[in-house]
Amino acid sequence: EKDGHDWFMRKEIFEQPRAVADSLLGRRAADGRLQLDEMRLDDAELRDIDKIIIIAAGTSYYAGMVAKYAIEHWTRISVEVELASEFRYRDPILTHSTLVVAISQSGETADTLQAIRHARMQRSKVLAICNTNGSTIPRESDGVIYTHAGPEIGVASTKGYVTQLVACYLLALYLAQVKGTLFGDEINNVMDQLDDMPGHLETVLSQAENVYDFARAHVDTTSVLFLGRHAGYPVALEGALKLKELAYIHAEGFAAGELKHGPIALIDEGLPVFCIVPPRGRDQLHDKMLSGIQEVRARGARTICLAEVDDDTIEPYADTLIRLPKVPVLLQPLVAVIPLQLFACELATAMGNDVDQPRNLAKSVTVE
Ligand code: M6R
Repeated sequence: EKDGHDWFMRKEIFEQPRAVADSLLGRRAADGRLQLDEMRLDDAELRDIDKIIIIAAGTSYYAGMVAKYAIEHWTRISVEVELASEFRYRDPILTHSTLVVAISQSGETADTLQAIRHARMQRSKVLAICNTNGSTIPRESDGVIYTHAGPEIGVASTKGYVTQLVACYLLALYLAQVKGTLFGDEINNVMDQLDDMPGHLETVLSQAENVYDFARAHVDTTSVLFLGRHAGYPVALEGALKLKELAYIHAEGFAAGELKHGPIALIDEGLPVFCIVPPRGRDQLHDKMLSGIQEVRARGARTICLAEVDDDTIEPYADTLIRLPKVPVLLQPLVAVIPLQLFACELATAMGNDVDQPRNLAKSVTVE
């Protein structure tokens, strides 16, 4: 049942190209427009939305952070992302023109469920992004976008996460279509790039051995840092969470621009640091990341850098270099997360931990 893999998690990591493809199936109507079947919110309602609040926990929360970048960029609707466990207790401003998006793989997370109940009591519309048909959160929501990851057995979410990202991109594009903030051919262009993703994910997965080597070389480490910028920043947070869950060691994700504001003091000889390098563009993000990498390297860090296939600037500063396919920065989380998942899985395996059933954790957290 693990298809020859040692863990369900590893099997699920390698299932991601298929899960992404399935989550994209049937989303384009015959006339080329985007359609979201189970959405159940009509376009007139969506056109009135002036604020979005995304609520979720754990990995789903980090998917929500990526969604904020995409939704705000494509739709110009402002987005807040909030931990479900904090949401109700801060007296959030909710109106009938606020759309609350609840992201939950299981659909049963108690914190998220209580948060949507609170939002609906305040007259806000709730849309669920969920992987589990008929679970409580989509049943109690006004609409749902189902992800098609298939059952996720490993406690650490992997294919659940990438399919949540796909659903978030679809939602963002759909809102842009309804609001008219993107032209049809711009939406089609992003959809074409998403359709290429399963192949891109395979390309990254084919470099698994390089990631495993880096993991095995650091089996005695007590800490790992993850650096990213823009949409790569939440991916850094997700990489750190995976490692905490599975390897039980200190792991932390940072926005690379924050390094000089404190975290750089943590860098010490031999500390492994993951660096998610943004694509080269007009915005200097890439060059700023590069200088961050140079700084940690100069202080003795061991770097594993994820950089675009034709990026020739990183090599001198990377102990291990993983090549990412050329994709826009907003979509890069889909490919960049894979090496982080592989790393956590392999390091935990090398440490002798139970990857599928990490200590103290449950697959779905049904208590608040
Ligand atoms: O089922 P949900 O998406 O609501 O679960 C939320 C978190 O409990 C979950 O993502 C958790 O953080 C995972 N174990 C992460 O790998």
